[in-house]
Amino acid sequence: MIEVKDLLQSADWKKEKHVPVIDAPDKVKKGDWANVTLTVGKGQAHPNTTEHHIRWISVFFLPDGEKFPCQLARIEFDAHGESPAGPNMSTVYTHPQATVTFRMEKPGTLLASSYCNVHGLWQSSKKLDIV
Ligand SMILES: [Fe+2]
Repeated sequence: MIEVKDLLQSADWKKEKHVPVIDAPDKVKKGDWANVTLTVGKGQAHPNTTEHHIRWISVFFLPDGEKFPCQLARIEFDAHGESPAGPNMSTVYTHPQATVTFRMEKPGTLLASSYCNVHGLWQSSKKLDIV
């Protein structure tokens, strides 16, 4: 049986343009707001055309010692040049990047997933400690 976890690809984001990059501080003061910026294509740009683009990024936080992650945000990127005149005829495109702000009381791990309409699901993670 194929499971979703078998379809989640990961790689070094500097070499692989599909990996969601998590930019966040290594340590945050307990209860303070933390900014987490998510980007696909940070190392090398991912195509952004009607035919080939990043659809969404989801980001979760798993507090240390807990079983279930909390979804912080799911960002949909909906403009990729579609137009009544045809594919790539619009001048409007969304860039696959967003900043999410959240706070927590325990250290844990940020987990991001992203979806390319041609190349599937990708993931990455980053540890977040409490000062
Ligand atoms: Fe792709």
